Amino acid sequence: MTSGRSFYITTPIYYPSDLPHIGHGYTTVAVDTLARWHRQSGDDTWMLTGTDEHGQKMLRAAAANGVTPQEWVDKLVTESWFPLLETLDVANDDFIRTTQPRHEERVQQFVQALLDRGYIYAGEYEALYCVGCEEFKPEAEIVDGTGPFEGLKVCAIHSKPLELLQEKNYFFKLSEFQDRLLELYKTEPDFVRPESARNEVVSFVRSGLKDLSISRSAFDWGITVPWDSSHVIYVWVDALLNYATAVGYGTDPEQFARRWPAFHVVGKDILRFHAVIWPAMLMAAGLDVPRGVFAHGWLLVGGEKMSKSKLTGIAPTEITDVFGSDAYRFYFLSAIAFGQDGSFSWEDLSARYQAELANGFGNLASRSVAMIAKYFEGVVPEPGAYTEGDLSIQRIVADAAANADAAVERFRIDEAIAAIWTIVDALNGYITENEPWALAKDEATRERLGTVLYTAAEGLRALAVLLSPVMPASTEKLWHALGAAESLGRLQDQPLREAGAWGVLRPGSTVQALSPLFPRVEQA
Ligand code: MSP
Repeated sequence: MTSGRSFYITTPIYYPSDLPHIGHGYTTVAVDTLARWHRQSGDDTWMLTGTDEHGQKMLRAAAANGVTPQEWVDKLVTESWFPLLETLDVANDDFIRTTQPRHEERVQQFVQALLDRGYIYAGEYEALYCVGCEEFKPEAEIVDGTGPFEGLKVCAIHSKPLELLQEKNYFFKLSEFQDRLLELYKTEPDFVRPESARNEVVSFVRSGLKDLSISRSAFDWGITVPWDSSHVIYVWVDALLNYATAVGYGTDPEQFARRWPAFHVVGKDILRFHAVIWPAMLMAAGLDVPRGVFAHGWLLVGGEKMSKSKLTGIAPTEITDVFGSDAYRFYFLSAIAFGQDGSFSWEDLSARYQAELANGFGNLASRSVAMIAKYFEGVVPEPGAYTEGDLSIQRIVADAAANADAAVERFRIDEAIAAIWTIVDALNGYITENEPWALAKDEATRERLGTVLYTAAEGLRALAVLLSPVMPASTEKLWHALGAAESLGRLQDQPLREAGAWGVLRPGSTVQALSPLFPRVEQA
């Protein structure tokens, strides 16, 4: 069912030295949901995630733990980062680690190509470096330290002292790309989204670009510069290239042509690397720039960006152990406008779980299935003549499906879920209004009862399909309860862009008992 339209989407590759927290989980489930949506729409989809394993940060963390950097990253990736994908029910197609030979060799090939094309030169460098960011800091992000760091210059993001580095480095001629980048943002207005992110990038590039130091010689935990073995490649250049090396850059032209270019979803903290440096690197190598970069906001806990270093990190399992993976996915993706910051609180999570998932969607599913079991011996009834009220439900379903798909095209997962939720609300109202339990009391209204319950079941069929990219586990349960798996096949094979059509669920299908999709949660 592949349409041929390629859709390649990536998460940032994470530093394994930080334990996964809900911020990392947020990016990952957003990308997974977008990928699932496109995959289920028949697009030729590929989702990539992975880990960023080189650099000084990793080297120091390994040393502090008394192991080699390779042992350190192997342990963390296996014990923490692979399991995160299970915890969050992520269906990635590939996982790249920057210490894999498939990556390292191609990175060398890429920087060699930049050298051969005249975009790299040797120079001297002296500047303040933040190991937390793995970046030489611009003026605007350097502040005076306080407390134990009084009298020192610290990083505005990490609040840790900066280090003055003086080295002979290789430089990439980033400054040569200013005009071409501005032209790109102009001709492809959607290259950077949302609008606020685009404006920030444009004004940053307008203010002038400096050449970028792309090698380090003070330590050796990295990929060796191919023409000078005393240098390793700057960790951000190494990391950004994962998006290309993972899909065959340099070794598999067919795969590369099929997948590239990608859409990148990143937190706004790393927007400039993706929207400025990365397209310039690709231009220099003569490759296509990405199809787009979408920057989402930060998860705030107690008003601050959540991070491990600030001790506000919450592990995704703390949430999934109590509420399940679907609730995690639903909560973060629906409660926060994708592209803006959002505050996390347990109270908000619990309240939405109860109102929207348990009472809204879950209860709609349970009572509809239970009424079919009770009044029609578990067989989905044949609908009779439709009234205006029934037709209105059909229109709501069609509109919701079209609006959700349009929202996903804009990367607005939150708006897509809001559009789909109009079906939940409308069906709950429809059942209250039509009172099937009253219709069931009178044989004369049996046909009407059938129409009402068919409408509820068919609405649930559409909901299962539309919500499956967001909540794969509970929609799968619902799909089986509706008896749809037998008559219509697997849920993930149901074409998403046709989900709004009416009359898909076959009368005569047999429903199965449905335990609560979102069980009551015992509060500690
Ligand atoms: N390794 C680099 C990225 C290289 S990509 C070529 C890096 N890694 S990271 O482990 O720090 O993860 C960064 C990403 O995690 C952010 O861009 C963002 O997507 C996610 N988040 C980390 N903290 C977050 C929040 N508090 N809120 C939302 N997302 C957060 O940077």
